[in-house]
Amino acid sequence: MPFSTMPAQCQVTSLVTACATYVLSLDKYSALDLPTEMKQSTRGTRRTVDMLEDICRFENEMSIPVTERLRDSTRAMHTEVERAGVMRLLLHGQLGQVGYCRLLRNLHAIYVALEAGLSQNASKTVLAALRCEPLFRSDALGDDLNFLHGADWAEAIPLTVAAMQYADHLNALATRKPLMLGAHAYVRYLGDLSGGQMLARIVAKSLALEADQGVNFYDFGGAENVAKHARAFRAGLDILADDETNAQALVEEAGDAFSRHRMLFEELVYI
Ligand code: HEM
Repeated sequence: MPFSTMPAQCQVTSLVTACATYVLSLDKYSALDLPTEMKQSTRGTRRTVDMLEDICRFENEMSIPVTERLRDSTRAMHTEVERAGVMRLLLHGQLGQVGYCRLLRNLHAIYVALEAGLSQNASKTVLAALRCEPLFRSDALGDDLNFLHGADWAEAIPLTVAAMQYADHLNALATRKPLMLGAHAYVRYLGDLSGGQMLARIVAKSLALEADQGVNFYDFGGAENVAKHARAFRAGLDILADDETNAQALVEEAGDAFSRHRMLFEELVYI
């Protein structure tokens, strides 16, 4: 394709390739006794290539939707949390009702903080684009705890340090960096809409629950609604990350959310 008709991004890539080839060809002669001006010109060209490569990297990252960047950058962490502490037991149907209620009680504290922050900020910021309200889980978690443990669950089941610190972090974000709540909403709600649907069946079977009782947490109103919510939420995330700074900050905050979950799941094994 002629250079002038290429899209801008391809033009930058071709320029970088051409410059890099030129530098490599100069490098071949670096062992020779070249005049000083020529060696300086080689160094100058290297700096230009580095700069063009940075532009290229930036252009490429900006052209990838943040939803894809979130998935790619957290893939390894997802594999870790799936196997961390109580999650491993849950996945193998070995957590038991007491352990499961502890997990729900600790998640409840996290969702209460997250959902308060999202509600508080929805009208003031682009967080509204996420339209999280139909996804809120704290009431469903409360219902499951009432059913599986009894009405005194809030006082009777201890909170872990990890859950309390997580809730504090979410409260701080709600006042200082509300946009970053989007990253935590991503980790929780897309997790609930994805793997959570699989976990519902495992929980119901391992705790011998009947007629969908005690698994409101995973209920978003059927498979069609699950797909619809996931689609709408992803579209909202892409609106939220309207520039590179926001996109990068969301990706980093999602990494923090996964680490906090790993700590929680590990701590829950010991309480
Ligand atoms: C323990 C069992 C878990 C299983 C079996 C599981 C399984 C899955 C599966 C099958 C998907 C869909 C992947 C895809 O569409 O490519 C998924 C997505 C996801 N899961 Fe999990 N998951 C588990 C736990 C978790 C936990 C504990 C979290 C959060 C702390 C989490 C967060 C997510 C997120 C955010 C996504 C969406 C990824 C994306 O498409 O961007 N998952 N999970």
